[in-house]
Amino acid sequence: MAENIVILTGAGISAESGIKTFRASDGLWENHRVEDVATPEAFFRNPLLVQNFYNQRRDQLQTPAIQPNAAHQALAKLEAAYPKGNVLVVTQNIDDLHERAGSRQLIHMHGEILKGRCQTSGGLVQIDHDLTPTLPCPLCGKQGCLRPHVVWFGEMPLQMETIYRALAHCDRFISIGTSGNVYPAAGFVEEANRHGAHTIELNLEPSQRLTAFAEHRHGLATELVPDYVEELIGLL
Ligand code: NAD
Ligand code: APR
Repeated sequence: MAENIVILTGAGISAESGIKTFRASDGLWENHRVEDVATPEAFFRNPLLVQNFYNQRRDQLQTPAIQPNAAHQALAKLEAAYPKGNVLVVTQNIDDLHERAGSRQLIHMHGEILKGRCQTSGGLVQIDHDLTPTLPCPLCGKQGCLRPHVVWFGEMPLQMETIYRALAHCDRFISIGTSGNVYPAAGFVEEANRHGAHTIELNLEPSQRLTAFAEHRHGLATELVPDYVEELIGLL
């Protein structure tokens, strides 16, 4: 019988597509204080600064140069090769490169930069333009009500119940391109271990959670992931 596979991805899988990671020496958090741009308090204090930080990231994502890479594509190929419902990708990334590559069973646990959320109704809208504090919300009409649909520090990540249910039933847990600094995602490996899954890390360098994994391979995601996917397709 085909295995149930849960895959966790982080900024590292999109690095070779040209999107900066968070904690590299020239990474996103090197140039910004998290408290200034990625907390609800920051948004309350200075919505323009926070919106501009995410406006820049949305603009960058929409430039033609930013495209899914061989690692995103390999995960879509894995999903297509396995029976429907057996492969779930849980991403910490707010970009849309997994879906553009063809992944369909996908959870964005830290939100999506190409969506805005109405703070009055909680409703979501697709956005391809800059948000500003004076923009009327398309859902409720109130000025500045729309916020980026991203999870900030101090907020609850999305769809956690579904994720933990999948981890409880998976045979294999694969972590790709994440430093293992941020919980709850950093704890998924233990949850998978507890339920008897085989756990493997594919990352540029050993992550903070290295010792929790049964197996690890270090190198570029665009090399490691396609090779590993071929191995998994070979198991079918
Ligand atoms: P926290 O207590 O505010 O986080 C609570 C929860 O919010 C966490 O479970 C986290 O998953 C979630 N969360 C909210 N916004 C998030 C976002 N944008 N990205 C990821 N998760 C988000 O945060 P904390 O415990 O202070 O920090 C969690 C980890 O993040 C720490 O282990 C630390 O290594 C790292 N961190 C790094 C920096 C930095 O690199 N400059 C700054 C702050 C936190
Ligand atoms: N191939 C594989 N791994 C890579 C590559 C690559 N080409 N380039 C970088 N990496 C690895 C790095 O070695 C690092 O361990 O990807 C990891 C990226 O780690 P972070 O920058 O910390 O990103 P991530 O783990 O996704 O951060 C988690 O923190 O601030 C929050 O919301 C943010 O979702 C994010 C969360």
